Amino acid sequence: MPFVMYCICAMSFLAIEATTNITTDQPSLLALKAHISNDPHSYLANNWIASTSVCNWVGITCDSQNNRVVALNLTSMSLTGTIPPHIGNLSFLVQLGLGNNSFHGSLPVELVHLRRLEILLLGLNSFQGDIPSGLGSLPKLQYLYLNFNNFTGSIPPSLGNITTLRSLEFGNNNLQGIIPEEIGNLTNLETFILRGNQQISGTIPPTIFNISSLKMINFAWNRLSGSLPDDLCQYLPVLQRLILHRNQLEGSIPSSLWQCRELLGITLDDNKLT
Ligand SMILES: *[C@@H]1O[C@H](CO)[C@@H](O)[C@H](O)[C@H]1NC(C)=O
Ligand SMILES: *[C@@H]1O[C@H](CO)[C@@H](O)[C@H](O)[C@H]1NC(C)=O
Ligand SMILES: *[C@@H]1O[C@H](CO)[C@@H](O)[C@H](O)[C@H]1NC(C)=O
Ligand SMILES: *[C@@H]1O[C@H](CO)[C@@H](O)[C@H](O)[C@H]1NC(C)=O
Ligand SMILES: *[C@@H]1O[C@H](CO)[C@@H](O)[C@H](O)[C@H]1NC(C)=O
Ligand SMILES: *[C@@H]1O[C@H](CO)[C@@H](O)[C@H](O)[C@H]1NC(C)=O
Ligand SMILES: *[C@@H]1O[C@H](CO)[C@@H](O)[C@H](O)[C@H]1NC(C)=O
Ligand SMILES: *[C@@H]1O[C@H](CO)[C@@H](O)[C@H](O)[C@H]1NC(C)=O
Repeated sequence: MPFVMYCICAMSFLAIEATTNITTDQPSLLALKAHISNDPHSYLANNWIASTSVCNWVGITCDSQNNRVVALNLTSMSLTGTIPPHIGNLSFLVQLGLGNNSFHGSLPVELVHLRRLEILLLGLNSFQGDIPSGLGSLPKLQYLYLNFNNFTGSIPPSLGNITTLRSLEFGNNNLQGIIPEEIGNLTNLETFILRGNQQISGTIPPTIFNISSLKMINFAWNRLSGSLPDDLCQYLPVLQRLILHRNQLEGSIPSSLWQCRELLGITLDDNKLT
């Protein structure tokens, strides 16, 4: 009998906690809405309203256990705005997708509080400023898409800490500086795109060519110099695309290319290779 009572008590406690939690994420999402200055199709205007559960709002997915927001997907909604620091309060977030809108301003450092984040898709916007080095402490991040923005500064070496990373897409920004050799620690990386930053310079660290999971390397349209290792393909068994045109690479074309047996495409033109 005491056991049964304990169970009922525990269950009602859980029910109360779940109910309370439906509103836990509401202030953070309303803060985001308040930072959206243009919503031409009124996706959020009449839908993200305080009297309804955030779990029914457009673009939101909650987990059924805790009723917390696990996914926020506002992809391709023609929204203009900035990301407020309150985003860091969505502590259960696993996926954040704001791609293909007109978000601008810099990324709030509070993003580093999203310890469960696996997918961060911010491509095709007008974000500015540095890539926050704190992103390097997100322990579960797998996909980091920042392509087609106006990010400046250099690639944070701290990203080499996130061994869960599968995809880094930084193409078509205004990044400069070198490719950090710490990226070579990303033993699960499949896609690494730096295309079209114009200013990324220095040599390609040899550690990059040791990431045996790599399928796609695209560093075209930068200022990379130095030569390619002759054994470039020795440790890249699944590489499909090696895109390096429009740089300042010199020396000879690696004799090991035949060892990239999955290769589908290679571009080396507009370099100083012999
Ligand atoms: C919401 O749920 C989480 C995880 O179950 C819990 O740690 C937190 O205390 C809850 N918050 C509220 C306000 O009930
Ligand atoms: C986000 O929403 C878009 C448009 O509705 C959809 O195509 C895409 O698959 C969604 N992404 C994720 C990660 O759920
Ligand atoms: C971006 O969003 C616009 C407006 O919703 C849509 O027409 C376009 O196809 C999207 N582009 C991409 C690359 O998804
Ligand atoms: C959410 O984040 C903001 C800014 O980081 C902070 O000031 C505020 O206290 C947080 N709110 C809640 C409810 O946690
Ligand atoms: C990108 O940022 C630079 C430096 O802040 C600025 O001069 C330039 O106009 C921006 N470009 C775009 C396309 O926003
Ligand atoms: C991540 O990497 C940086 C530089 O590579 C290092 O200094 C730092 O201690 C690391 N941080 C964490 C949280 O692992
Ligand atoms: C990451 O790479 C750097 C430089 O290549 C190396 O010095 C460091 O020990 C590596 N860190 C880890 C945690 O493997
Ligand atoms: C690449 O990996 C091989 C085999 O594990 C090792 O001998 C070599 O030192 C590594 N090279 C670099 C630059 O990390």
